[in-house]
Amino acid sequence: MHEQTQEITDLILKAAEKARAESSQEAEPSMTSPIDWPVQCNINRGLDGAIACETRVGYVNGAKGWLIYRGYDIFELTAHASFEEVCFLLLRGHLPSQAELDQFTEKLRGYMQIDETIKYLKQSPVAKMGPMAALSLGVNMLRVEGELNDELESSMRLIAAMPVILGAITRIRAGEEPVSPDASLGLAANLLYMMTGEKPDAEQERLMDIALTLHADHGSNASTFTAMVVASTLSDMHFAVCAGIGALKGPLHGGANEAVIHLLGEIKSVDEVPSWYHKARAEKRKIMGFGHRVYKAYDPRARIIRPLADHLTKKGKPEHREMLEKAFALEKEVIRTLGEQKGIFPNVDFFSGTVYTCMGIAPELFTPIFAVARVVGWTARVLEYTEDNRLFRPRASYIGSTYLEFKNIADRGECCATS
Ligand code: SDX
Repeated sequence: MHEQTQEITDLILKAAEKARAESSQEAEPSMTSPIDWPVQCNINRGLDGAIACETRVGYVNGAKGWLIYRGYDIFELTAHASFEEVCFLLLRGHLPSQAELDQFTEKLRGYMQIDETIKYLKQSPVAKMGPMAALSLGVNMLRVEGELNDELESSMRLIAAMPVILGAITRIRAGEEPVSPDASLGLAANLLYMMTGEKPDAEQERLMDIALTLHADHGSNASTFTAMVVASTLSDMHFAVCAGIGALKGPLHGGANEAVIHLLGEIKSVDEVPSWYHKARAEKRKIMGFGHRVYKAYDPRARIIRPLADHLTKKGKPEHREMLEKAFALEKEVIRTLGEQKGIFPNVDFFSGTVYTCMGIAPELFTPIFAVARVVGWTARVLEYTEDNRLFRPRASYIGSTYLEFKNIADRGECCATS
């Protein structure tokens, strides 16, 4: 796949050079040592700053704008590895040998055969509910294929089956028959094939493969932590993944990529960007696709997707190119006003939607694609955490009334509300 798309590999390696040059002055990363519990840490609202656990799965360094999966830099992985290699790496902790990869992909191919689930999905009101709700329904339905007593096997089945479920949801929403997976295609190509009904060309396959790798894992983000909380009760992997899907849907998290396309649609032309942005700032609007709880530098995933979107739209439809030109103009405005001042830069969601739009994918399907990738990080971290499990159970500080005198309803008069 890579030799046919060398131009894409070169764009990634060029972005890597730029990233390293721009972040070389930043201090070496923190939060990379074993935890000696109990741990002292400053916690802000939203558990900002809280340390939930130790991990070897992946690392996000906000100052340097680093993203690492099991020790490998995201630029290297997107330039040289397939999404299947990355799935193996995140789940098993090392890059696979050819024999290990062949065995792994064979297993994934087997787990893509979920005719029973698709049959029940077709009988459900999929077109009447949002695609993320339908995805969650499909994941729970997957149990009809038979309970797996091994959570690693469940993880592999979820990674293999979610693209098939999303493909079916896409086709049912379009009033079409679901397309069965093609055993000759990899996960990324099969996802596009099952969503669009057409086999992608080498470039589209590579771009989707890279997008899935970029979205596969990202530290202790909201949806991953949600999945881990559910798993820490010794529930099961399907419920943990359904919980992750629910958290990812929110526009402050995975739902931002869809919101970006809508906001770019609000702006009539490139020339209108400054006035639109000025008005949005006056209204104190959060600009979707910008800012991050951890990154106070440019999100490395945005550094990779940005030139790919540029490459794709240069030869695509004029309206897609105009969308990206508006994005570039908005990026300039935000970085000029909020970049250095507040550490607000583009995140992965700002450019991903443009790439998907060029592939003919509707905005409401962007976040489900995010979920199809992130299920790898969810399952990898659930497997890791539950190996040495402890129920997640934070505290809340009670600031309500105490010692109120109980009154029977007859004695309560009009209103019993306390301050
Ligand atoms: C993802 O956690 C992960 O790793 C997530 C993710 C992953 O891979 O799992 O990376 C994926 O979710 C990326 C983020 C996608 N969301 C968006 O693009 C939505 C827009 N972004 C913001 O809502 C916000 O930046 C968050 C939610 C992402 C992070 O916000 P924080 O850390 O909670 O910070 P905050 O809301 O407290 O903001 C701090 C300041 C505020 O200003 P002041 O009140 O101090 O004056 O920064 C401002 C905010 O108003 N700010 C923004 C902004 N983001 C923060 N101002 C304008 N536009 C923005 N996007």
